[in-house]
Amino acid sequence: MNHSPAYPSITYICLIAAIGGLLFGFDTAVISGTLSFVKDQFALTASEEGWFVSSGLLGCIAGVILTSFLSDRIGRKKVMILSGFMFLLSGFGCAFAPDFNLLVTARLIGGIGVGMASVISPMYIAEFAPATSRGRMIAYYQLAITIGILMAYFSNALFLKLSQNNFQSSFLHWFLQKETWRSMFFVMSIPSAVFIALLIKIPESPRWLFSINKKEKAGAILNGTVGPLAAKKELDDMNNAASKHSKSKISVFSKSLRLPLLIGITLAILQQFCGINAIIYYGPRIFESAGIASDNALVFQVIIGTINLLFTFVAIKNADKYGRRFLLLTGLTGIVLSLVLCGLLFYTGNSNSILLLILIMMFIACFALSLGPVTWIIINEIFPTEVRSKAVAICTFSLWGAVWIVGQFFPWLLEKAGPAFTFWAFAFFSLINLIFSWRIVKETKNKTLEEVEQLFISPH
Ligand code: BGC
Repeated sequence: MNHSPAYPSITYICLIAAIGGLLFGFDTAVISGTLSFVKDQFALTASEEGWFVSSGLLGCIAGVILTSFLSDRIGRKKVMILSGFMFLLSGFGCAFAPDFNLLVTARLIGGIGVGMASVISPMYIAEFAPATSRGRMIAYYQLAITIGILMAYFSNALFLKLSQNNFQSSFLHWFLQKETWRSMFFVMSIPSAVFIALLIKIPESPRWLFSINKKEKAGAILNGTVGPLAAKKELDDMNNAASKHSKSKISVFSKSLRLPLLIGITLAILQQFCGINAIIYYGPRIFESAGIASDNALVFQVIIGTINLLFTFVAIKNADKYGRRFLLLTGLTGIVLSLVLCGLLFYTGNSNSILLLILIMMFIACFALSLGPVTWIIINEIFPTEVRSKAVAICTFSLWGAVWIVGQFFPWLLEKAGPAFTFWAFAFFSLINLIFSWRIVKETKNKTLEEVEQLFISPH
């Protein structure tokens, strides 16, 4: 323990892991700028278009399941590296796909990367971060998602602009001008390669090492990163938790894990049922249907994306100070209010106003300071190490399932029930989330993962 090698700082380690979030955000947002080109080029039918969009999501689900099995066997770090390779492969694959089937395959592989990163990055951060800054560190992951989304909008816009030039080289003419969507997808390979390179230097999760009985290595890593005092406390906590578990083995479906599982799954599903992705991705369409003229959907996307990014800092600053519950309850109150009022504007025929834009910005800001980061924080800190990878995968799987449901039903709801009722449906689910968070969710700030475990686990 005294001769621990030097390790990078915890903040650096967690920021590197958070790049997984950036790739997640980029991959899910890049498609919006490429869709119309791909549709034209391959003369896609409506069902092929649907397949192109949903293939990523299908990959996500596969990636989540894969991670739940792999991360206990080969470790957290290797799975992160593998997710980086998926993104890299997908970036290249999409850019050079000779036909539509291979393009869809490459999107599917990118989806696997997203699914893997959405489980492994925040879980690795949660297992590494000290109790007093775990909220902030996992919120970095959410911040990275918002940066990835914005990066995709900007890079799509940049390549669109570039495509107006005349390139002499036949390769550049093809890649940047004639089939611009290829360059849009290709960009993802760059942060993916950087992610892989940076991951190599960071240590393995000490909690995973401890769980496979490599206690000395775990101790050395903790010693070299959080310092001897904090390392001793964390190791003692891990030893205590381990000796309790050895008396009674728990599985993810044990009775004692029902409450945390209920909390994790409910928060994951309700995070999506507030309509965040409908508003992020269909935002420009909502403005148009409200009669607010826009020649440039990008301007709205950038406004929404920037607010999303900036207000995540509120969570970064306060998750460990005022706690997860405080952020959830405040943010959800704002979310419910803004959604109800948006619905009211449409219902009373007053949607053609700047007020709609303000309310949507308020909704995004409230999401960014609460549901966005706090859902990921809580999912990743409420389960014991023994079952964490399986339990987090179940919650994240539910989250992606909910993304799918919203994606399928939002356009239908908008058309059949109209925008007022669509907003009120999102408000209704957010109200349920507010009540649920108020009555059921427990505060976890400043507790080690083992202390959180004690808080949640009912006696067997
Ligand atoms: C959600 C994503 C969403 C993103 C927006 C994340 O926490 O899980 O579905 O697109 O936030 O910032």
